Amino acid sequence: MPKNNTKKVVEKKAIKKTKNFSRLRGMKDILFEEHKYWDLVERKARDLARVYGFEHISTPVLEKLDMYERSTGKDTDVVSKEMYSFIDKSGDKVALRPEATPGLVRAYIEHGMFNRPQPVKTFWYGNCFRHEKPQSGRYRQFTQFDLEMFGEEGPVGDAQLILVAYNFFSELQINVQVQINSIGCRECRNAYIKKLIEFYKERGKRSKLCNECKKRFQKNPLRLLDCKEEACQEVREDAPQIVDFLCEPCREHFIKVLEYLDDLEVPYSLNPFLVRGLDYYNRTVFEILAVDNEPETNEEIEETEGENEEDTEEETEEEKEGNRKKRKQLSLGGGGRYDGLIEFMGGRPTSACGFAIGIERVVMKVKEKNIPLKSEEEKIIFLAQLGEQSRRKIFSLFEEMRKSGYSVRQAFTKNSLKAQLEEANRIGATYSLILGQKEFLDETILIRDMESGNQEIVDFKKIYTEIDKRLKE
Ligand code: HAM
Repeated sequence: MPKNNTKKVVEKKAIKKTKNFSRLRGMKDILFEEHKYWDLVERKARDLARVYGFEHISTPVLEKLDMYERSTGKDTDVVSKEMYSFIDKSGDKVALRPEATPGLVRAYIEHGMFNRPQPVKTFWYGNCFRHEKPQSGRYRQFTQFDLEMFGEEGPVGDAQLILVAYNFFSELQINVQVQINSIGCRECRNAYIKKLIEFYKERGKRSKLCNECKKRFQKNPLRLLDCKEEACQEVREDAPQIVDFLCEPCREHFIKVLEYLDDLEVPYSLNPFLVRGLDYYNRTVFEILAVDNEPETNEEIEETEGENEEDTEEETEEEKEGNRKKRKQLSLGGGGRYDGLIEFMGGRPTSACGFAIGIERVVMKVKEKNIPLKSEEEKIIFLAQLGEQSRRKIFSLFEEMRKSGYSVRQAFTKNSLKAQLEEANRIGATYSLILGQKEFLDETILIRDMESGNQEIVDFKKIYTEIDKRLKE
């Protein structure tokens, strides 16, 4: 073979070997532009948690598989269908956490937190994993903001959690509807389930249910109530309602929660069919739904189109339509009371309640709304320079100002002043301090108001007085 041809073959082979890696389906990269929204949302979550006395706690991403089977529930969709579980190199059956609550309950028990003053109020923020069918707002790795309250049995606990969740959304200017229900305690729920089974056994009803609900009828009839399929929703219209079966203490608890919410002026809707999909709940359950139906953003469309080419799990037209309908009532968060779980997981009998909010969905809503991002208290000062001597001088000034607590930014790698000021605009700086060659020689500096474009020359030594004066305005 001529030498040239051999080279071509080798090159071709090399090209063939090169593989483009793409992210896994349902996983997301968050690029610089989007992180601003994430920071805003996380800040809001942290601030609210602190104000209401919830303390930061973190738990491992991997836990024993049987912990989730026992708490979240073996027959729930989350555990039976969606969990990332595997046997590790020591032969232990482990799982990536699909939700934070079981790990937090484990930590509460393992660290003897019942010895602390009750209630113990935890703030948790991190990633969860569920192998679900990805679609807009539904990922396989997602982020939750989770608050739990251990050791509070009174309805004030439920009400405070709903208040914090509601404030979180209203302060981010996201319109939500809080839906609430009570699923009672084991006793009243069992009496209700019997009635529910009788209702579904009536002639012709079961045949109308979707395949999933036919299975639910056998395994967990309560979950027939919150199926999103239209046919199942039609059947359930005349179903008995659990609130009519609540025992006196459960009824009283529920009424008190609602009274607190009325006092706190938190609007809510009673949803007699809300049961939630996790096994541990009793009494109050609630969900927070987005109420506005803004059109899908380009990013959302990209999310479904930009999937792995080898993926065979394409959404059918029918599924897309179904998903579109479900999306109208996107659940941004949910929670409730779980008074039996701590004991069930080996701890002392301890009442508890909590909620989790899905951050990807919140960020999606914040972006749709174009909520202004600039934090009010943070006024950014951009330091720009022209020429080598100025650059060195402003390098030192930057460090000095940063250490003194000013919110300073720079783009020292850019030489042109135009490019630096463009960067200042892009990041939303309030003022730029500009040191050119002339200013360097005169021992002055320019202060530019980035909004009006007005510039003033000030004595370099008076920078702090001048900038403080402006920042106070
Ligand atoms: P959950 O309803 O399963 O509750 O999840 C809470 C929120 O997490 C959902 O409302 C949704 O916003 C978000 N979320 C769930 N799955 C996904 C997903 N695949 N992609 C994006 N976001 C998702 C719990 O997890 C309970 N641990 C809440 C709780 C805390 N109950 C008591 N304490």
